[in-house]
Amino acid sequence: MDLEQYGIKMWSEEKITSFQEKLLAWYDKEKRDLPWRHSNNPYHIWVSEIMLQQTRVDTVIPYYYRFLETFPTIESLANAQEEELLKVWEGLGYYSRVRNMQKAAQQIMEEYNGKFPDTMEEIQTLKGIGPYTAGAIASIAFNLPEPAVDGNLMRVISRLFEIGLDIGNPSNRKVFQAVAEKIISKERPGDFNQALMDLGSDIESPVTPHPEDSPVKEFSAAYLNGTMHLYPVKIPKKKPVPMKWQAFVIQNDKGQYLLEKNTYADLLSGFWHFPLIRDYTPTEQQLSLLDEIAEDLEDYPNKNIPLETQFESIYQLKIQKGKKLKGEVKHIFSHQKWEIELTKYQVQSYDEIEELSDRELRWVEAEEFYKMPFSKVQTKLWEHVSGQLENNK
Ligand code: ADE
Repeated sequence: MDLEQYGIKMWSEEKITSFQEKLLAWYDKEKRDLPWRHSNNPYHIWVSEIMLQQTRVDTVIPYYYRFLETFPTIESLANAQEEELLKVWEGLGYYSRVRNMQKAAQQIMEEYNGKFPDTMEEIQTLKGIGPYTAGAIASIAFNLPEPAVDGNLMRVISRLFEIGLDIGNPSNRKVFQAVAEKIISKERPGDFNQALMDLGSDIESPVTPHPEDSPVKEFSAAYLNGTMHLYPVKIPKKKPVPMKWQAFVIQNDKGQYLLEKNTYADLLSGFWHFPLIRDYTPTEQQLSLLDEIAEDLEDYPNKNIPLETQFESIYQLKIQKGKKLKGEVKHIFSHQKWEIELTKYQVQSYDEIEELSDRELRWVEAEEFYKMPFSKVQTKLWEHVSGQLENNK
């Protein structure tokens, strides 16, 4: 990669060597004594790295010991009962991570004869292991010169070279990766990576940095130029916009439900769902944020129009007053946050439904739902409905 194109001037070989020496000498003297640093077993390193993605070092330590006592080998993890697996992870959250670890352990047993793979390429074939974790395992356990690029490392490197690229944008990761590949120690890559981790979490912590104590401050362009506060560049992500919706759970006298194919909007296009109408009632969050313009919102488009009337005007189908279901379904897309209320209606059969409106509608038995392409939203809506039907029995 041509780093100059990003305005990055790579150091000379002498400067790189000198940087590695300073950093590693500091690490040898000051490194934190952490349990996984007494091991170069890839399984142990893997467990520690996944846990460290969830929470702080102090919290991880007891979990790390307990996990390895419960599952001392990859094989024992592969064969674990789900309950035991969730138990050792209790309190760490993100249970999908430990479930993925079990799947990866099974992969190692089946595809790699029980032996942890030892190349970057193979390590990344394991479930739940991305480039950061693979780099950490490859360098710490197998002494391969692979960087472990996460937010901490990007923070440190952006200051060393005054790199103004947004570290929140995943496509910029490759630039930091390329810089790290240039400066990593080929003799002690694992220690080099962990030294940068220690630097990033203490001296260059995002909350209480004290860069004057850095062993490598004279290598840091941002430190020398007084621009530490400008790095890293992290452009805040836009929050998803809150939106309310009304879902119409309409059942006919044959017990079938009315489903609609989304042929009119890009989001969830092609999926079948209960008829949905946008509800412009301001959410609590909008009201509290927009106090001063709340009067404006008083005139939202469907204010004071009964749900049934709104439905009829779009779908050309008459429905009597329905029964609101308890609770609501929430779903977050990257740019929208939906809150969906559901109302249940009972109607007569309509045979000629296709001709009634320009929407694509169909009566479907619940037993046939599995054949229809359902989005995550519709799956949640149906779970919500069927949960309440169960309770009413
Ligand atoms: N954070 C992530 N990995 C780490 C490690 N190996 N040591 C310390 N902190 C870390």
